[in-house]
Amino acid sequence: MKKFGRIGVLTSGGDAPGMNAAARAVVRTALAHGVEVMGIYRGYSGLIDGDIRPLAIRDVSNIINKGGTFLYSDRCPEFKTPEGMAKAVATCREFCIDGIVAIGGDGTFRGATALTAEGVPCIGIPGTIDNDITSTDSTIGFDTAMNTVTELVDKLRDTCESHARCNVVEVMGRGAGDIALNTAIATGATGVVVPEFPFDDDALCRHITEARHIGKRNFIVLVSEGVGSEYAPALAKKIQSETGVETKFARLAHVVRGGNPSLRDRVLASRMGSYAVEMLLSGKSNIVICEKAGNIVSTDINYALALDKMYKGTLAEGQLDAFSADEVEKMKSEIAAKLDRLSALNEIAKTINL
Ligand code: ADP
Ligand code: F6P
Repeated sequence: MKKFGRIGVLTSGGDAPGMNAAARAVVRTALAHGVEVMGIYRGYSGLIDGDIRPLAIRDVSNIINKGGTFLYSDRCPEFKTPEGMAKAVATCREFCIDGIVAIGGDGTFRGATALTAEGVPCIGIPGTIDNDITSTDSTIGFDTAMNTVTELVDKLRDTCESHARCNVVEVMGRGAGDIALNTAIATGATGVVVPEFPFDDDALCRHITEARHIGKRNFIVLVSEGVGSEYAPALAKKIQSETGVETKFARLAHVVRGGNPSLRDRVLASRMGSYAVEMLLSGKSNIVICEKAGNIVSTDINYALALDKMYKGTLAEGQLDAFSADEVEKMKSEIAAKLDRLSALNEIAKTINL
């Protein structure tokens, strides 16, 4: 089995609260095994440029509670080119980096599998507020983002109640409605619009009109950004013109990506960071660390990437050829299970949030 003397850790793609906690766990678990850790700054850009420094136990002090990522993040198109990849591999050789833990989303995992194929074993940890990595029940940052949305929407609700208004609130999530559906329940939103399910805005307007008639003063409608950036502002205008209820529009945008990580994200990140190092040092690579039914497990990175493409309906011709019939069936049932979970949230919201 390969003996690891030194590993690297990086954060890449959109940052997420809890990335620091994950990197801290990676550093301290590796050091506990007598393996050195190099911090790779600015994601794959730092790997190309050699923006790399050793991390000792105290270099990751006082960050478990901090949002953002002390390693910084970047989107690095050059890493997708053969020249960029060659530079990254040369940097790994130069700094004697025997393996890498890459914290990020599916783009980061595509980079990690490409680097593994070039002889640098990599393991991915899902860090993104969107919860759009189908192979894990939760991604790092998702819980904090939902808590932030809840806190902000609660504030909007206070002022909507005072002024008898409606507020349409757009939240991030890329193509995934997970943040919107969960926070719609938590905030008692009267409507929730997500890319996964059809939405009847005429029925919403009728409902708001009737509810106002019997005395309801405040209305919150949550919209996931995945339905398109024009949708939520247009819906706000439509609600106002069709119901007569004064309606404001708010886009929460990146504010939801910052802030101190929640307890759940700190613990999830610490568990995933530790497990990633245990896996790497035991000779595993090309895997994504996942949470399944409360357990920390691993999934083949190519399986995880194909699963996400199947979920999004973006599979290219022949992309499933590398997988067995059983694996393809497993993908289909994982997707069905996830959609069932989201659909149940949508139904609960419709039934109890009036
Ligand atoms: P996320 O990880 O949040 O999905 P991105 O999609 O921006 O974020 O991906 C992060 C980075 O991962 C990209 O900027 C790029 O450097 C790297 N990456 C993405 N796709 C590939 C790919 N097909 N091959 C190599 N690297 C990739
Ligand atoms: O993936 C995280 C995320 O915040 C998405 O929710 C959002 O669509 C996107 O990143 C925004 O990206 P950027 O930071 O490049 O504006």
